[in-house]
Amino acid sequence: MQMHDNQQIAVVTGAAGDFGREIVRKLLAEGFCVAATDIVEERLKELPKYVEFPEKLGLFYMDVSNSESIQKTSEEIAMVFGDSIVLLVNNAGIFERTPILLQEYHDTVKKIIDINLLGSYYSTSIFSKFMIRKRYGRIINIASLAGTWGAAFGSAYAASKAGMIAASKSWARELGSFGVRVNAIAPGVCKTQMLEHTEKHNSFSAEKILLDLVPVGRCGSAEDVAELVMFLATCKTDYLNGEVITLDGGLNIGTVEITQLS
Ligand SMILES: NC(=O)c1ccc[n+]([C@@H]2O[C@H](COP(=O)([O-])OP(=O)(O)OC[C@H]3O[C@@H](n4cnc5c(N)ncnc54)[C@H](O)[C@@H]3O)[C@@H](O)[C@H]2O)c1
Repeated sequence: MQMHDNQQIAVVTGAAGDFGREIVRKLLAEGFCVAATDIVEERLKELPKYVEFPEKLGLFYMDVSNSESIQKTSEEIAMVFGDSIVLLVNNAGIFERTPILLQEYHDTVKKIIDINLLGSYYSTSIFSKFMIRKRYGRIINIASLAGTWGAAFGSAYAASKAGMIAASKSWARELGSFGVRVNAIAPGVCKTQMLEHTEKHNSFSAEKILLDLVPVGRCGSAEDVAELVMFLATCKTDYLNGEVITLDGGLNIGTVEITQLS
């Protein structure tokens, strides 16, 4: 990794995961210096194999559920790359089942809220200060369609993502006058390890069911999400603020045509 002053720096949380890796790859290709952060260091170390400009990539351990870890990492990133942190992608997240009738899941509920909601809260709080100093910044929160639809047996996950959506809109209001824009992406179901993990606990194939329900006829992918991140990170207008963009192939609008029913 080289020192790069005056370069636009992007911080990606959960960078070792499926979405994270693709987001990092595309940001580097676009010319950003990227601070890729995660708690799974073995998977972080594999990132350079997948990217075009590994010399502009920094790998950092950062636990988003711990604000001290974020503070410490933000200082390390500034030491290595300089302080022009202009982009934060709050992507780290976990999904675990939390059936409401089973009390043994209470610790899991807390863990999900700590990582998904408080994690993006702490990260935004710490990294937005760099952006405010430059009077420029973009924050992109990876929420979920579950945040507006809810999710049976996954209410903690759905609530954490609903919280991210409400927080995004609030941060868009708070930070707007400092040149910082905050938007969220709400992906539907994407073909990733997270989907595989969910399917392991179900007796049905979510993918099979979805293929009939998604108007475009396929699950989403990490590439779809990373493309939209790139759009939000680089689009020329600074008037896009406080939006939640659903990225689900049309799943939320349904597939039943009124004309077919009549
Ligand atoms: N995969 C989907 O279908 C889907 C749909 C909607 C939203 N999302 C959201 O997109 C994001 C990425 O999903 P993915 O499919 O790439 O999942 P993933 O499991 O592949 O990646 C998530 C990453 O977050 C990291 N992480 C977990 N806890 C952390 C912590 N405390 N601190 C820092 N990093 C931590 C993991 O190590 C992992 O690398 C998540 O927020 C998820 O909720 C995913």
